[in-house]
Amino acid sequence: MAKLELLIHNKNGNTDAHVFTKEQAQSVARFHRTIPGYSPTPLVALSNLASSLNVGAFYVKDESKRFDLNAFKVLGGSYCACQVLAEKLQGELDQMSFKDFLLYKQALGDVTFVTATDGNHGRGIAWTANKLRQKAVVYMPSGSSQERLENIRALGADADIVPYNYDGAVALAAKHAEEFGWTFVQDTAWEGYEKIPTWIMQGYMTMGLEAVQQLGDVRPTHIFLQAGVGAMAGALAAFFSDYYRDDPPVITIVEPNIADCVFRTAQTGRLQTIEGDLPTIMAGLACGTPCSVGWEMLDRFASAFVRMDDCVAAKGMRVLGAPMGSDPRVIAGESGAAGVGCAVEILQNEKFAEYKQSLGLNENSRILCISTEGDTDRAMYQKIVHEGLYPCFD
Ligand SMILES: Cc1ncc(COP(=O)(O)O)c(C=O)c1O
Repeated sequence: MAKLELLIHNKNGNTDAHVFTKEQAQSVARFHRTIPGYSPTPLVALSNLASSLNVGAFYVKDESKRFDLNAFKVLGGSYCACQVLAEKLQGELDQMSFKDFLLYKQALGDVTFVTATDGNHGRGIAWTANKLRQKAVVYMPSGSSQERLENIRALGADADIVPYNYDGAVALAAKHAEEFGWTFVQDTAWEGYEKIPTWIMQGYMTMGLEAVQQLGDVRPTHIFLQAGVGAMAGALAAFFSDYYRDDPPVITIVEPNIADCVFRTAQTGRLQTIEGDLPTIMAGLACGTPCSVGWEMLDRFASAFVRMDDCVAAKGMRVLGAPMGSDPRVIAGESGAAGVGCAVEILQNEKFAEYKQSLGLNENSRILCISTEGDTDRAMYQKIVHEGLYPCFD
């Protein structure tokens, strides 16, 4: 398997950002600001890295600082859970704040949210349910990290590792929601199940809005977004393209080569599913079927798709963990560092000069990546960053 493969995508010509516009992002962010403890995550400029790669600028948004959850996913989980509760109260979330759902707890009664997760989404749902004095049930695919399971249990959720892959865990959560009258809150969409995942995707836009506000007058020319099911990447690709409508950035979608369902979908133009186990260190990206709503957005707004080896993500972790000169340090987990690893590898490795050229990367480029998680599996972080596991040779 190639270490890194890039596919240029012909956007389908539709430039409608659907429900992922700047205005919608502002409404979502207003709601997030009502959550106690909210503050924007940092956007760091890695100037020495940019010089060494011979590009104009290299920015990284650090989602390890998102509340106390070490990952971005709670933005989607909290927004969607509160949309569900607002609907139960026949209210408009636009007019409400997070604490309203505690005030109206009696009217809401007991709600159980159920979901499947590699870790981050389930932790966000468990955290939200816990804060709102509601319940969460979380299923994790086989091979999930014990530390990630314990983090979810520590938030009071009923969490277990089940003997299925990610898609199997999703099917189990859907089945139990039906059987037990729970509310199924999954971070991926398919035909007939779009409303909740669309809310989750909208929740992710707060990250994009914060980033453009932090960048101010600086417009990124290239954005690298990692994809599991492609919900986050789809929402943000639409948001950034809408926000910078007059001169949209070149957006590249990054996946593990073992879990390349979005790449294969781009190749064929039809949603593709990968069966069986998906053994990659990028646990958050180990998904077998793209999110239908996410893919719709990526088809409109993504310029390229990449599938790559685990070692490239590991390189991203090391680049961020051992910064050059006065560049700030970012602690990034395996899925979190995928976009950075991809950008650095394309810029640094002569073998990929052709990809660099086809993306139009040069000394004037201003790159934006999102480090979507911190060290959510600390034992693995140490092995990769301190001990050099998954070396990234040619
Ligand atoms: C850290 C991290 N980054 C990126 C993603 C990808 O998000 P999506 O599944 O929406 O593509 C995930 C998904 O769980 C994740 O946990």
